[in-house]
Amino acid sequence: MTVILGIETSCDETSIALVKDGREVLSNIVRTQHIHGKFGGVVPDISSREHAEFIDTVYYEAIDKSGIDINKIDAISVVNGPGLIGSLMTGLMFAKGLSLHYNKPFIPVNHVDAHIYANVLTHGNLNFPLLSLVASGGHTSLFIVNKEFKTELIGKTIDDAAGEAFDKCAKMLKLGYPGGPSIEKHSINGNTNFHRFPRAKIKNFDFSFSGLKTSVLYYLNDKDNDFINENLSHITASLQEAIVDQLIHKVISASEEFNINILSLAGGVSANIRLRDKLKEYSIKTGKTLYVPKLCYCTDNAANVAGIGFMLYQKKGFGNMKTNVYSRK
Ligand code: KG4
Ligand code: ZN
Repeated sequence: MTVILGIETSCDETSIALVKDGREVLSNIVRTQHIHGKFGGVVPDISSREHAEFIDTVYYEAIDKSGIDINKIDAISVVNGPGLIGSLMTGLMFAKGLSLHYNKPFIPVNHVDAHIYANVLTHGNLNFPLLSLVASGGHTSLFIVNKEFKTELIGKTIDDAAGEAFDKCAKMLKLGYPGGPSIEKHSINGNTNFHRFPRAKIKNFDFSFSGLKTSVLYYLNDKDNDFINENLSHITASLQEAIVDQLIHKVISASEEFNINILSLAGGVSANIRLRDKLKEYSIKTGKTLYVPKLCYCTDNAANVAGIGFMLYQKKGFGNMKTNVYSRK
């Protein structure tokens, strides 16, 4: 049995998890920093300070809940990028401290790879090659993922990330942060055809959401509060549809272009039910396989980190005390 302790502090979640053999989640404590809500987005220096203040509480809770003696763990894995530099630094220093004190190897982990690994925690062994859309607040990318998680980037956003588009539109609608879950909630009984917000037309597999954001701004500019309140479900459903449509369209065209019949979702936006349902509908219609993560593994959490840490542990992908934020070893 191999137990990896994972640490995630790349943005506004302080999370520590213990995972056995890359599969069995013994504990996964996630403390979300709600303080950013009043600013309508994550404030980087507040985020780093909150991680520093709460990381040891989260750590003790994760150890207690797992029932594992810290001396018995095999390694410590930590996200060292991409993410907010100060926030990543807090987790990295904490991981190095544990590694030195308990004389355990430590494993730097890529944030995006950790998101994709959520599908292993959910489904067990995956079939490869697969096409993975990773959509979150910081990134929106399409990868071909080969055996052992060797990823090949085939498309990415040229401006905002999909989650960022949800967050910024929600801010314009005064729906609070994070925007994705609140837009989803308000859109439940809305008419997706109420207003057609633009879908960026980019020929390759890149994405763009800044035009959508601007069009939402212009659309709202000449509407009064009564109109917005009365039609909130329709407006949110329409703009959610514009984001989801663009994501789905790229996944489908990449799947056809590269002839890959195994699809997967990952990242915070993959919690979106409309996105999950529409891709599911496509996969059923075409007989393609679709992996979607359990909701608890979509947004940032350390179980994904400990999971992929196990895979790297087997390959001896260890870091050392010189490993920094954003360096791979
Ligand atoms: O992966 P994540 O936790 O953090 C980053 O790596 O950025 O993703 C957070 C993003 C936020 O932009 C949030 O609004 C979005 O994921 N998100 C959603 C949903 N849940 C979270 N977007 C759409 N629908 C959701 N249900
Ligand atoms: Zn993330």
